[in-house]
This record gives sequence, structure tokens and C-alpha cells, in this order.
Amino acid sequence: MNAPERDTLISAEENREMFDRIAKNYDVANRAISMGMDQGWRKKTVQLLKPFRGGRYLDIGTGTGDLVFEIVDQSANVVIDGIDPSIQMLEVAKDKAEKRKLGDAVSFFPADALDLPMESDTYDGIVSGFCFRNIERRQKALEEMRRVLKPGGMLVILEATYPNNALVRLGYKMYTPLVPMIGKFLGGGSAYKYLMDSIEDFPRPDTVTDMFSAAGYSKVQCKPMTMGTVCIFSGKK
Ligand SMILES: C[S@@+](CC[C@H](N)C(=O)[O-])C[C@H]1O[C@@H](n2cnc3c(N)ncnc32)[C@H](O)[C@@H]1O
Repeated sequence: MNAPERDTLISAEENREMFDRIAKNYDVANRAISMGMDQGWRKKTVQLLKPFRGGRYLDIGTGTGDLVFEIVDQSANVVIDGIDPSIQMLEVAKDKAEKRKLGDAVSFFPADALDLPMESDTYDGIVSGFCFRNIERRQKALEEMRRVLKPGGMLVILEATYPNNALVRLGYKMYTPLVPMIGKFLGGGSAYKYLMDSIEDFPRPDTVTDMFSAAGYSKVQCKPMTMGTVCIFSGKK
């Protein structure tokens, strides 16, 4: 097995336990930490996916399911699978789906991005939000995602990135110590310290787009948002 590609090392098992632990307050923490911007970033992500009527979609690292619900809101008659190794995150997603009465259109089940239990060429599009950073072997994950995409299908990944601009970076550096405090207040313990450290360790956007190309995607793009603190990466099979 290859060595993990990142420096902020926690194993897949530790990752699962961490997200299980923070699941209950994840949505509240997300809104607070992003200062209410996270749902707008998800909306933009799904706009780039361009879901169409009758299409079949996959959300990798779905967590509490917000990208799945955004796809439902943007397109009628779609079928969506949301996968995640964290059972507790999936429980929150399932409760939300039930409240929205989504029935069979949406399924949430445990699975890992590195070993997707689906046939090749299954999905018209794949999204993933704030998950890619946590995956130990990202190149392998990109290849696995491409395998389950239909030819012509889009992969759209939303991820937090370390800003390039020195002034923005200064503001970011002043803000980041607040995040673990917000997380701790909401019962997340050290999880939010790890999440911020992992953003600094995450490869720069150019490296990520190179990884997309190396995995065989075409029309690879990176759309920076909110002064480069978030990027939406996309590519076509
Ligand atoms: C920060 S949360 C993001 C949840 C959701 N996508 C969102 O937009 O809020 C990251 C999620 O990725 C999941 N995750 C971590 N490693 C994963 C892997 N190898 N495969 C699939 N999901 C993974 C975690 O369990 C967690 O629920």
C-alpha cells in the first residue's frame, strides 16, 4: 500500500470516529465557522454539476447530506446516493431526508471513497464537499470516482483551501484560532483544530488540478471562491 499523501495524519478509523463524534452539531458548527457562507458554496458546486432530470448522482463523504439536498433542490426527478464511512453523520442525513419526505429518490449508506461498491459507469455526476482533504490516498480516490462516472460525467469537488494572497492569508491566520474555540463550544473537542490544520496541509489548487488530469479527467478547472479560502474543482470523464 502507498504511503498517505498528506502530512496531517489521522487514519481512516480515527477520521470516522472524529466525524461520528461531531455529527450531532456538525451543521450548526458549519454555519458558524463559515459565517453562513457554506450553503452558498454548495449551491455553486451543484450549479457546476448541472444535474438534469432523470440523472443519477453520487455524493462522496456526504456527511449530513447537504449537497444531496442541494441537488434535489436544483433538479427534479433525480436519483442520488450519498456515501460516508461515518454512521452518525449518515443518521443525521437520513433524518433530514425523512423530514423532507424524499422517499426512494435518495439513499444514504456507508462506503469509502477508496473502494466504491458500485459498478463502473454508473453515475451522470459526482459531487464531494469538504471530504477530499480527509482522504489518505487522494489520487487513488480520483481514479475510483472516475471509474464509477459514466463517460461524459462530471466530478465536482468543493474544498477549503489555504489562500494565496498575503493579505487574505493574514486575515485567515487571525481567524483560524477562533475555529477550534467554536468547535469546542459545540462539543467537537480537538476535531476543529485538526480540520484547520488539514487545510494548511492540503495541496495548493494547481497541484489538485494536476491530480485531476493525472487521473484522466478532461476540462479540468478550479474556481476559487471567497478570496481563495474555498475552491471548486471540476473535471469531465
Ligand atoms: C467535513 S465533512 C463534509 C460533509 C459534507 N460533504 C458537507 O458538505 O458538509 C467530511 C466528510 O467526509 C467523510 N469522509 C472522510 N473520509 C472519507 C472517505 N475516505 N470516504 C468517504 N467519505 C469520507 C467524513 O466521514 C465526513 O462525513
